[in-house]
Amino acid sequence: MTGSRPHERDVDPVTGYETTGHDWNGIRELNTPFPRIVLWALALAFLYSVIAWILLPAWPIGRDFTRGLLGLDQGEMALAGYEKLEEARSDWMAAFADNPVADLAADPGLLARARPTAVRLFADNCAACHGTDGTGGPGFPNLTDRDWLWGGAPETIAETIRVGINSTDPDTRFAQMPAFGRDGMLSREDIVAVAKHVVALGHGQADPDSRGAAVFAENCVACHGEGGKGIPDNGAPTLISGHWIYGGDIQTVMTTLWNGRQGEMPTWQDRLSTAEINILALYVASLSENDGERDR
Ligand code: HEC
Ligand code: HEC
Repeated sequence: MTGSRPHERDVDPVTGYETTGHDWNGIRELNTPFPRIVLWALALAFLYSVIAWILLPAWPIGRDFTRGLLGLDQGEMALAGYEKLEEARSDWMAAFADNPVADLAADPGLLARARPTAVRLFADNCAACHGTDGTGGPGFPNLTDRDWLWGGAPETIAETIRVGINSTDPDTRFAQMPAFGRDGMLSREDIVAVAKHVVALGHGQADPDSRGAAVFAENCVACHGEGGKGIPDNGAPTLISGHWIYGGDIQTVMTTLWNGRQGEMPTWQDRLSTAEINILALYVASLSENDGERDR
C-alpha cells in the first residue's frame, strides 16, 4: 500500500468518477452509487410480500395456516373440484348402479363414457395380479382370452368380482383342483400317464387309447368335462385351448396334479360400489372381444 488519503477527492481519469480514495497496490475502486433500480426492485418485492401475506395463505400455524383476507384454501378447492366431477358423472354412474349388467352391456354410449373410469379402476385394483393389460401371468388367469374358469358373460364376471373365488366372503365361488399325488388318490404311474395326456391335450395331440386317456376319463372328466374342454359351472378350466393358468409343460402339470391348486381371487363387494363392480365387469368382458380364436 502506498498510503491512503481519505479526505482528498480522487477522480479516475478514464471514467471521470470519484474513487473511494483507497489504493491497493495501485488498484483503486470507483465510488459509484448503488444502482437505483435494485433498490426499487427490493422495495417493490417487499411491498408485494406484505400484500401477499395479508391477502393470500402464507404463514404456517402448527398444523394449520393463515388463509389471508381472500380466505383461499387449496385443499377445499381441490375437494370442490372433485365434488363437481362426481356430480358431472353422477347421472351415468347411477345408471351403472341401478340397472342389470346385461342391460348395461346393450348401451355402447354409456360404456364409452365409463371407459376411462374402468381403466383407472382396473389399474388401481386388478392390475397387480392380472397385469395392466389383463393378460395375467403364472397363477393369475388371462382375462383377455375366451377361456374362462367361471364364465365370461358380464353378469357372471360381475358375480366373480363381487364374491371372489376361494375368498373370505361367505358367498364366495369355491373350486379346488385336488392334490392327486400328495393325497394318494392316484399312483405315481397313473399321474405320470395322465400328465402326459394333459400336455398332449394342450397341443391337440392326445391319444384316446392311451393309459393317460383312461385315467383322465375316470378321474378328471367330472370336473374338466368331456375331452377336457372345461366346465364353467365347476370353475374348472379348459385343458385343450393351449392357454394355461399355471402352465402346460410336463413339470408344471405334474406339480398341479401332485399338490393340487386353489387360486384365490379376493372379494370386492366391501371395497367397490355396485356401479364400480358393474363397470369393471363390462370392461373385463370387453377385453376378450377381440380374441377371435375360439367362441365359447
Ligand atoms: C390378489 C390377486 C388378485 C387381484 C387383486 C384380483 N384378482 Fe382376479 N383373480 C385372481 C386369481 C388368482 C384368479 C383365479 C382364481 C382361480 O385360479 O381359481 C382370479 C380370477 C378372476 C376372474 C375369473 C376369470 C374366469 O376365468 O372366470 C375374474 C373375472 C377376475 N379375476 C377379475 C378381477 C378384477 C376385475 C379384479 C379387480 C377388481 C381382480 N380380478 C383382482 C387374483 C386376483
Ligand atoms: C374336483 C374337481 C376337479 C377334478 C376332479 C380335477 N380337477 Fe383339475 N382343476 C380343477 C380346478 C377347479 C382347477 C383350477 C384351479 C385354480 O386355478 O384354482 C383345476 C386346474 C387344473 C389344471 C391347471 C390348468 C392350468 O391352466 O394351469 C390342470 C392341468 C388340471 N386341473 C388337470 C386335472 C387332471 C389331469 C385331473 C384328473 C386326474 C383333474 N384336473 C381333476 C378341478 C378339478
